[in-house]
Parts: sequence; C-alpha cells; structure tokens
Amino acid sequence: MQLIYSEDELMSDHPDLSPHLVLGQRVHGGFLPDGRYQPPRALGREEAFEAWTSSLESHGGKVYPVDASLLEGLRVINVPQQRVLLRNGLGRWFWNQLTVTGKIEARGRLLAEATFPDLQPVIVEDISDMAIGHLGKGLLLAHGLDEGGSPEAGIGGHDVMWFLARDLAFGADPYPDVEPPENIARPEASARLMPEIPIEIEGLVSLLTNLLIIEFRAELGFAESQAILRSPDVFVDRRDEAELAAEIIERIRTDELIHVTSLCLYLGELCTVTFRTVDGGTIAGRELIDRYWEGLARWATVEQPQAMGDRVRPEVEAYIATHDEPARVQAEFDAVAG
Ligand SMILES: [Fe+2]
Ligand SMILES: [Fe+2]
Repeated sequence: MQLIYSEDELMSDHPDLSPHLVLGQRVHGGFLPDGRYQPPRALGREEAFEAWTSSLESHGGKVYPVDASLLEGLRVINVPQQRVLLRNGLGRWFWNQLTVTGKIEARGRLLAEATFPDLQPVIVEDISDMAIGHLGKGLLLAHGLDEGGSPEAGIGGHDVMWFLARDLAFGADPYPDVEPPENIARPEASARLMPEIPIEIEGLVSLLTNLLIIEFRAELGFAESQAILRSPDVFVDRRDEAELAAEIIERIRTDELIHVTSLCLYLGELCTVTFRTVDGGTIAGRELIDRYWEGLARWATVEQPQAMGDRVRPEVEAYIATHDEPARVQAEFDAVAG
C-alpha cells in the first residue's frame, strides 16, 4: 500500500474531467464522463486519505471521532424564519449570508499561501508515511486552493461558487456589498493552550482543530442554504436559477467532505504520536489534542452560539423594522422560531 505521495500525486485530477462552468465563469472541479461531479484535486487525495486511514487503523488508531452533529440545533435563525424574510421581500439578510460565506471561504486560501512548520522535528515517531507528514507537501496547498480558487488561472474556488449561487438566485448586485466579521475562530485561539510544545507548532495544531469546527459549522449552514433555495415559496420568479444555486452548493459540500475527512484523519494521527516538549521531555499527542478539542467544543456549542444569538437577534429585528408592516412580519417570524 502506497503511503508516501509526491505533491504532484496529491494535486492530481481525474484525467477525463470536463470543465465546470457556471454563468460563463470557470470554477474548480469537473464532470466525469458519466456526468458525476468530481471535486478538484480529488484523484490522488482520495486514494491517499484511504491508504493513510487504513494504515492508522492497522496500528490501533482511528480518525478523530467527531462529526457535525455536535453543532446541531444551534442555529440563531432557522430555515422557516429565513423564508419568512424572503417571502416578505426582506432578501438582504440571506444575500448577506451568501456573500459573507463566500468571503470566509476566500480566507481559506491562507492555507495555500502561508508557510507552516514541519511537524517531524517535534514528533518522536517517523511521520513520513502519514498524512501529517504531507501537510506541507500538497495537502494544505490543495485545501487552500479548494477554498479560495486559483484566480491567476481564472478558476474560481468556493468563494466564487458562493457568489455565483447568490447571483443565480438574486440576480446581479441587488444590495450593497458586505464584509464578514474579522475572526470566526475561537478568540482565545491566540492564548497558549498547549504550552508544552513550541508556539508555532501549537499554532498549526490549533489551526487544524479550529478548521474542523468551521467545516462542521459550514456543513450545517450549507445544508440550510440549500433548503432555503429549494423552497418553492421563495425566489418564485427564479425557481430554475435557485435550484441550480442549490446544486452548486451541493458541489461545494462534496468538496468539503474531503476537508472533513482529512482534518479528522490529521487529528486522529496526532493522537497516536508522541510530541517532544520544549523542556526536553515528551507528551502524548492524545493528551494535547483531547485537551484542546474539549475547550474548543465547549466554546463552539455553548459560548459561541450564545454570543452569536445576542449579536444577531437585535440585528434581524432592526432589519424587520425597515418593513412597511414590521409588526406583522415580526409576528410571522416569531411564530416559526424554535
Ligand atoms: Fe470551502
Ligand atoms: Fe473546506
């Protein structure tokens, strides 16, 4: 079983892909001869992730056992409420959400642009035949390009795919542009939570762990965006376009599966290795990862939704207040809460 891959192998695409075009714009991925959508750079990565997962399991390890259900039930505004806004001509809320999602995806290109430290010097075991030994050999590059595209080649990534989905549903530029919040990771991410290991290694491990939470939040949010777009009572004059927009989000979700798989694999591998500590000792990776994950999961399931709700509820009420019949719309909105 091959466990060591070159960057070219990890970046490789299926040879017979036909290009992926939306509204005349080239975006990543493509279609197999049988018409199935294929994510970008999936050929080598999917094979490699399978091989590394088998190898991890054959050594008694397992992929980190977490999934998006962790964050279920934590939405501030639900799908029926979004539909109330859209049915009443209050489209800016959903338009902003699609725009912000695209801009947050664009930030993921950092993974392709930044230089990250090699983990091998701080890990006792040989990691050259593990996924975590390939982070700087194509895996983070591919992940970053999936999110932010290859603008120099004219190929859009997830950022552009969200903007296209939005424009399909709404038409071009119905509202002023909007920017996402500065930081969507846990604010304490800058504090030392793994002081046993060098700060730049903690930075990489915490980035990967935060990314997994962001991917989980995305998984649920993307499904809701699709449910809104597929509701027959909204975008009534643009049903075909809204259905296509939902289909584009489905392709993004197919791509994101590779990200979730890979991040759970990285964390699972990190749990099986031994880190060298800054004071000359060692510490089990599992201790570091479980400790960090526990704090992050608490933030993501308790503190973050609370803060998000406190921020968003007055904003949406202020937006409803701009309607000609604010009391009626607010009552309709409240009636479908929960
Ligand atoms: Fe993405
Ligand atoms: Fe992603």
